[in-house]
Amino acid sequence: MRMLVTGGAGFIGANFVHLTARTRPDIEITVLDALTYAGNRASLEPVADRITFVHGDITDTALVDRLVADTDLVVHFAAESHNDNSLGDPWPFVHTNIVGTTTLLQAVRTHDVRYHHISTDEVYGDLELDDPARFTENTPYNPSSPYSSTKASSDLLVRAWTRSFGVRATISNCSNNYGPYQHVEKFIPRQITGVLTGVRPKLYGAGLNVRDWIHVEDHNTAVWTIIDKGALGQTYLIGADGEVDNRTVVETILELCGHDKSDFDFVTDRPGHDLRYAIDSTRLRTELGWTPRYSDFRSGLAATIDWYRDNESWWAPQKAATEAAYASAGERTL
Ligand code: NAD
Ligand code: DAU
Repeated sequence: MRMLVTGGAGFIGANFVHLTARTRPDIEITVLDALTYAGNRASLEPVADRITFVHGDITDTALVDRLVADTDLVVHFAAESHNDNSLGDPWPFVHTNIVGTTTLLQAVRTHDVRYHHISTDEVYGDLELDDPARFTENTPYNPSSPYSSTKASSDLLVRAWTRSFGVRATISNCSNNYGPYQHVEKFIPRQITGVLTGVRPKLYGAGLNVRDWIHVEDHNTAVWTIIDKGALGQTYLIGADGEVDNRTVVETILELCGHDKSDFDFVTDRPGHDLRYAIDSTRLRTELGWTPRYSDFRSGLAATIDWYRDNESWWAPQKAATEAAYASAGERTL
C-alpha cells in the first residue's frame, strides 16, 4: 500500500511516520511538508531510508494532484497549529488549514483516494472547570481562536466533500499531545527546555486551565485504528482521560527536574484562553476497540524530559527565536 502523509516533518506527523515505518513494513510512505518554522527534516532522519520526502505546500494544486494520483491513502496532519501565533497573524492559518485542506479534498475526490483528516478537540470550544460534561462526537462546534476556527472550517469541508461528492473520509479530533519532537513553542517543551537552560517556567493567567493530555504514540495508534476499522463518513474523538491543570504540569516538570515546585512565574494570559478541554472517547474504545498505552502522565512526562535532555541539538536552534517571538508579542511577568 502507498500512503501520503502531509505535515510529516511536524510533531505528530513525524511520530506517525516513525510508528508506521516500525510496524507496517509493507507501506510505501511519502511525506509532503512545506518545512515551515514548525517542520524539521531532522525529525525524519531515523526513518530517512523508509520514506520519500517531498518539500512542498499543500496548497500547490498541481503538486498535490500528482502525489494523490499516486497513492492509496492520504493522512492529513499538515497545519498551522499554534494558538498564540494565530492571534498575532491569522492568514497562514487560513491559507494552510482551509485552502490547503480544500486542495487535498479536491485531489482525493478526483482520484477516489481514502482520506483521514487529523483535527483537534478545540473545535468544540471549552468547558467550565466544574462541568461534569466532556466533549463527544455530538458536541456542537464552538471554536474560540483563529487557529481552532480554521480547524473547525477544515472539518466542515471534509464533511461536505463526504456528503456531496462521496469522498471516502474519516475525521479524528484529539486532545493535547505531548512526547518527543514537539516544537519548543508549545507548553510542555517550552517549560522543559526552559528548566534545562535555567529559565523559570511561565504560566499564563492563574495556571488553572485544564488540558486533557495524551501521549503522541497513543494518538497515532488511535489514528491507525480509525484508518483500519473506522466507518467511512464518521468522526472519532481521541483522548486518554488525562485532564491536568497547567500549574500541576509545571510543578511536576520542576519536581522531576529536581527543582523546587514553586520556581515558576505567572505571565500575561492568552486572549480568549480556553478554560478546559475534556474528551469522552467511548465511541473509539467500544466500537473500534482502541485503548491507550500511556495511562500514567507523570511517567510519560519523565520520559519526555529525558528525550529533551538527550536531544538538545534537535531543539536548541529554535529556542532563542521562539522566546524572542513570545517577548515581541508582549508577554510579560506579572
Ligand atoms: P506542527 O506545527 O508540529 O507540524 C505541522 C507540520 O505541517 C510542519 O511540519 C509544517 O512544516 C507542516 N506544514 C505547515 N503548513 C504547511 C503547508 N502549507 N504545506 C505543507 N506542510 C505544511 O503540528 P502538530 O502539533 O504536529 O499537529 C499536527 C496536526 O494535528 C494538526 O492538524 C493539528 O491541528 C492536529 N492536532 C494537534 C494536537 C497537538 O496537541 N499538537 C492535538 C490535536 C490535533
Ligand atoms: O487541544 C488540542 C490542541 O492542543 C491542538 O489542537 C493545538 O495544535 C495544540 O497546540 C494544543 O493547543 P493549546 O493551546 O492547548 O496548547 P499550548 O501548548 O499552546 O498550551 C497548553 C496550555 O498551556 C494552554 O492552556 C496555554 C498554557 N500555556 C502555554 C504556553 C506556551 C502556558 O501557561 N504557558 C506557556 O508558556
